[in-house]
Amino acid sequence: MSKPSSDAARWGHFQALNEHRRAVRDFDGAPLDDADVRAVLEAALLAPSSGNLQPYELHWLRDEAVKRRVAEACNTQRAARTASTLVVVAASRRIGQRTAASWWAHLDAPSGLDARSRAWHQAEARKFARFLRFAPLLVWTPVRMLLSLFDPVYSLLPIGTSGMRHWAARSGIYAAQTLMLAASARGLDSCPMEGFDAGRVARALGLPRGTVIPLVIALGRRRPDARIEPRWRRPVADTIVEH
Ligand SMILES: Cc1cc2nc3c(=O)[nH]c(=O)nc-3n(C[C@H](O)[C@H](O)[C@H](O)COP(=O)(O)O)c2cc1C
Repeated sequence: MSKPSSDAARWGHFQALNEHRRAVRDFDGAPLDDADVRAVLEAALLAPSSGNLQPYELHWLRDEAVKRRVAEACNTQRAARTASTLVVVAASRRIGQRTAASWWAHLDAPSGLDARSRAWHQAEARKFARFLRFAPLLVWTPVRMLLSLFDPVYSLLPIGTSGMRHWAARSGIYAAQTLMLAASARGLDSCPMEGFDAGRVARALGLPRGTVIPLVIALGRRRPDARIEPRWRRPVADTIVEH
């Protein structure tokens, strides 16, 4: 049976975006329209996040001097140096707590939520507020370490100080990927970068202690002569495991 045409159209659009998004490292450096960057950043906010707590911020570096400092902290790598602008993904439990507070405010305000949705949101908000309160307790850090000694599968449990950092970073990464696909849809190019000195980036942006920076994203338009590496992926059968 053939798929309805709207599914086929969505699939076609998605495949085109997915193919078009490449790690671009040679940008033309021309200024971008604010509206384009804003649209891409706002699209990223629809990314899924743990408990919908959105524990990240997207720092758009509009100031040339700040952008230069951050590009230097990215070891002046090609993508950072030539990008029109940079976006720093910053994540922390503290940002998640801020979301929880505004979630409650949203639930208290008159809205179009029906009783069932309101009850669901309240239960979720309560559950995740409890998580944010208890999961970071220091006592969990040795517990997580001990458990991971028995089985490394426990090493990413979202408990204890470092567990919470991983937790926040993970949701930030989904926003980053959504941002890069949105950029592709808007005719912009991007490059995700983890090659940077996190301390220097944090200082350049005045980020509070406890913030993690999972990624810096270079944004711009590829130069006509941009060197884009041939795309290679492992054979499908090596990666997609069926059980
Ligand atoms: C977490 C992460 C970190 C990366 N860090 C860098 C980086 O510091 N510098 C860089 O030029 N590319 C970086 N990349 C881009 C990858 O090299 C690129 O995605 C990969 O080679 C596949 O190419 P494609 O994205 O064009 O398909 C990074 C990608 C990811 C997902």
